[in-house]
Amino acid sequence: MATLIALLPGDGIGPDVTASARQVLDAVADRHGHEFAYREALVGGAAIDAVGNPLPGETIEACEAADAVLLGAVGGPKWSDPNATIRPEQGLLKLRSVLGVYANLRPVRIYPELAGASPLRPEILEGVDMIVVRELTGGIYFGKKTRTVDSASDLCEYSTGEIERIVRVAARLAEGRRGKLCSVDKANVLETSRLWRDVTNHLLAEEFPALDVETLLVDAAAMHLLSRPADFDVIVTENMFGDILTDEASMLAGSLGMLPSASLGDSRAGLYEPIHGSAPDIAGQGIANPCAAIASAAMMLRHSLDLEDEAADIEAAIAEAIAGGARTADIVADGETRVSTDEMTAEIIRCLP
Ligand code: IPM
Ligand code: MG
Repeated sequence: MATLIALLPGDGIGPDVTASARQVLDAVADRHGHEFAYREALVGGAAIDAVGNPLPGETIEACEAADAVLLGAVGGPKWSDPNATIRPEQGLLKLRSVLGVYANLRPVRIYPELAGASPLRPEILEGVDMIVVRELTGGIYFGKKTRTVDSASDLCEYSTGEIERIVRVAARLAEGRRGKLCSVDKANVLETSRLWRDVTNHLLAEEFPALDVETLLVDAAAMHLLSRPADFDVIVTENMFGDILTDEASMLAGSLGMLPSASLGDSRAGLYEPIHGSAPDIAGQGIANPCAAIASAAMMLRHSLDLEDEAADIEAAIAEAIAGGARTADIVADGETRVSTDEMTAEIIRCLP
């Protein structure tokens, strides 16, 4: 039976980069004798335009029936009226929640040839290899919201169970890596962070005594990410801190266009998406960087489809394409030639082992 992948292109550059990821997946399937079937579905602004709902029931069904979900991006100026009650982002948040994918893995990998694309000095970037584990279905993103004429509120809430399960995911990852885990919170101010810290310290001491554990306040973590990024192995943090810190961390890699993510729950199926947004300013121009989406497809092969060799092939091909000088507009340096989305995709396919 063919593996079924739900493909949700979404908005802006989402369709460009998911089309690239699909081409690479098909090339890998060809080489390894697999068959991937795709079911496309609407999400975000595209779904609002078509049916008035950023996450139609049909899309939920397609995702629940699939072995994994590959998503592009959602959002754009067309739907960003702050007073709108229906917004593209609601579709993505609801999808994460419906699928129960509470653990968002965001690896930050540096391609040595792109050191020049980062605003940081090359010697600071040397040896950077971290993974941020972001809690994805709780916290301020999902708490009760209120709005009156002159006030507003967003509730941030976490339960012990929500903290324990995400910390376990991060701790297991750290065990398989360099054995270092950094938990980021704001325990000097927030009650949710004080619970986070208590639960985390207790769980790690009981279940993972061998790990080298560090705790940082989020403001300090934002600084340490730039001053000593190579020290970090696995970082675990709550939803909004993880959102902010991973955009910051993407600058270590040189571009938001390079970073993939995997969102996992308790089942095998997961949701895979680049960490970048819909980049409406460059949508439809064929110049978006497909690397993050292609690397997300690799994570999908690894975590949901049990195809580790195939995942590694894609990652090696991206690295080789970059090493060979392929550069989309976001990572091109002075004097280098820039390639289009399609050319980058073709180059990655050419580099597949
Ligand atoms: C991300 C994005 C989303 C988030 C937006 C589009 C809702 O920024 O995946 O990091 O905040 O989670
Ligand atoms: Mg974000």
